[in-house]
Amino acid sequence: MALIKTENLWKTYDMGTESVHALRAVSLEVERGEFLAIMGPSGSGKSTLMNLIGCLDTPTEGTYLINGRPVSGMNDDELARIRNREIGFVFQTFNLLPRASALHNVELPLIYAGIPAAERKEQAVAALHLVELDDRMDHRPNELSGGQRQRVAIARALVNNPSIVLADEPTGNLDTKTGIEIMAVFEGLHRAGNTIILITHEAEVARHAHRVIHIRDGQIERDERTTRVPAPAARGPAGGWGAGRGERGSWYVPQRAPRQDSRPPPSISGFPDTPRRRRAARRRSRRPWRAPRPPR
Ligand SMILES: Nc1ncnc2c1ncn2[C@@H]1O[C@H](COP(=O)(O)OP(=O)(O)OP(=O)(O)O)[C@@H](O)[C@H]1O
Ligand SMILES: [Mg+2]
Repeated sequence: MALIKTENLWKTYDMGTESVHALRAVSLEVERGEFLAIMGPSGSGKSTLMNLIGCLDTPTEGTYLINGRPVSGMNDDELARIRNREIGFVFQTFNLLPRASALHNVELPLIYAGIPAAERKEQAVAALHLVELDDRMDHRPNELSGGQRQRVAIARALVNNPSIVLADEPTGNLDTKTGIEIMAVFEGLHRAGNTIILITHEAEVARHAHRVIHIRDGQIERDERTTRVPAPAARGPAGGWGAGRGERGSWYVPQRAPRQDSRPPPSISGFPDTPRRRRAARRRSRRPWRAPRPPR
């Protein structure tokens, strides 16, 4: 089943006398573990599509399903949980709180998710470590370079260990060298099993993706697969943040026995969503990682 599925998605802005069709019948499927780039001219509807995928906006017409479930049928709690836990959003304009330290900016989504303070700090520090900002945690955004700000924004998007990372022009405001560093962060996230969707107008950036969708006038013009889509790797805290701790081979697909008990269902991301599961996962994550045996 596709992780993300849009069917005949329209977004129309009513501008008084005329209507702007930002998206026109977009049907798209994205599997778990894909690394997808969205390209297209300015005004073609890229950010509009991304906002719909990120559940930040609702379509005028059409259906959007996450893991087979229509988003329109979800209640506020479920939507909040998806926004807070499953999706990490990196905005084109970093959207950081100017007076708050890098650490506090990264902690914000965890505050919304109701995570206790000590745990919050631990997770925020881990996310900043992943983007190599250990020595800049107490700096405010205006005391950071553009690339460092973007890395804070990425750390904030990742701090909940979301299964889907959405990034709108994450390298748009950066010089080439910093852009390459940021792309290395996304590659690490992808190797760790995350689904990555990023908007870019740079072919050099899109080259990192395994699939490129070209959008024009609110429609998908071309859908190119550049390389084989690798099987999603095991992920979640047991797999660590991926890029930093031992990386798992992309061929490894965890085999799980069908569930036969009455425990609450796992979260979409596979990331533990109850305090007990989180504690257990943290314990597991401290054990050294060992290569799984290849499938026979
Ligand atoms: N809130 C809005 N009200 C009216 N029209 C809008 C609104 N937001 C976007 N649009 C229009 O919808 C179209 C698609 O906008 P969108 O922001 O998705 O483009 P984009 O592909 O992300 O462009 P860019 O590369 O410049 O960021 C544009 O024509 C834009 O003018
Ligand atoms: Mg845009």
